[in-house]
Formats: sequence, C-alpha cells, structure tokens
Amino acid sequence: MHGEQPLRLGVLGSGKGSNFVAIAEAIRNGSLQAEVGLVVSDVAEAGILQHARDRGMPARFIAPGAFRTKLDPTAEAAFIGALQEARVDLVVLAGFMRILKGDFLKAFEGRVVNIHPSLLPSFPGLEAWKQALEYGVKVTGCTVHWVDQGVDTGPILAQRAVPVLDDDTVSSLHQRIQEAERTLYPETLARLTRGGWATPGRAGSRT
Ligand code: GAR
Repeated sequence: MHGEQPLRLGVLGSGKGSNFVAIAEAIRNGSLQAEVGLVVSDVAEAGILQHARDRGMPARFIAPGAFRTKLDPTAEAAFIGALQEARVDLVVLAGFMRILKGDFLKAFEGRVVNIHPSLLPSFPGLEAWKQALEYGVKVTGCTVHWVDQGVDTGPILAQRAVPVLDDDTVSSLHQRIQEAERTLYPETLARLTRGGWATPGRAGSRT
C-alpha cells in the first residue's frame, strides 16, 4: 500500500496531545518513517490541535454532535471524509475519548490503532490508572492495540509494564504511565511501518 511512500497517519485526540507530540518528535528525528496527514479532534480547544498547528501540520476540529461517548452519524461521516480526503493509511487514536464503531471501522478496517493506559484486558474504560491504583495491583502499564468493535479491546500490538509504588498518588502513577506511553507508541508505530501491513488477524502471530 505504501511502497516507497512514508506511512500517512491520521491522528485523533481529545486532550493535551502528549502522545501526539512523541509521535511527531519520532517522525522529526527519523526513528518513525511516517508523515502526519491530518490531526482531528472532537474538542475545539484540545492541546493536540495546537501542537499540530505549532508544527505546521494540518489540524481540524470536527464537532462530535449530541452524544457524549460516541460521534453522531453526521459527525462520523465528517471524520471519515476528512481522513479519506487526507489519504491516511493508518488511524492513530491518541487520547481520543469517543468510541468508534460501525461505519468508521468499516471505512478503515484493520487500520485503526489505540493506546490505553493499562495492561489490557485489565482496566478498560476511563481513568484506567485510577482503577489500577484503587484495585491495588502492583504492576500496571500501557497497551497499544488494534481497534475493534469493543471498548479497549482488539488484538494487542505491544505493552509496557509500569510499577505501582507504595506512595503513588493518582497523579504520580498517571504520569509514570504516560511516560511509558510516550516511548511505546512511537516505537510500536515504527515497528508497524517496518513490518509492512500487519493486519489485526496477523497481529497476534508469535513466530
Ligand atoms: C493517554 O494516556 C491515553 O492512553 C488515554 O488518554 C491519554 C491521552 O493523553 N487514552 C485512553 O484512556 C483511551 N481509552 P495525551 O492527550 O496527552 O496523549
């Protein structure tokens, strides 16, 4: 699909954009052979949009519509259209806090990856670091996975463990996990670009 062309990423995020910054930095320093085709957010004032604009990368806010946890059909069509127009090869969810299903996943079948701040399948959903601290696990971490119809499910591409320390607070643990994310996500994307097109069906192969 890409031949000599660098992989074109469409990055979706709702928040401050630290994962996006790490990905952009990896592209800049040559450790990730890719380019950012478009950054899209459902939050007009999201830091991720500003980080993209600061780097001269195309960035768009698209209003999500009336629902709280997903895109309404008009918004979903707008997200799909914008990413297709930008000719992205891979959709990279970097703190995108809405569930993508149906038409979106059909449009980018086997081409959507996500990062989640826990060792999935433990602690899916919101504030996974807080869930881990409250549960009392001694190790948590982060996971990069292909996105399927579920919430924080789908074949796992990579994980990194992070210790939970006795004196951790919600914020210190969150910070340690996010530090791990900032290396794991660019490294995993680089592995994907080097390995060609590992579809979800093959992602779990352990040869
Ligand atoms: C990241 O920690 C990511 O794992 C999490 O949102 C944060 C975004 O931070 N995503 C989820 O919880 C998805 N279920 P960032 O905007 O600084 O990259």
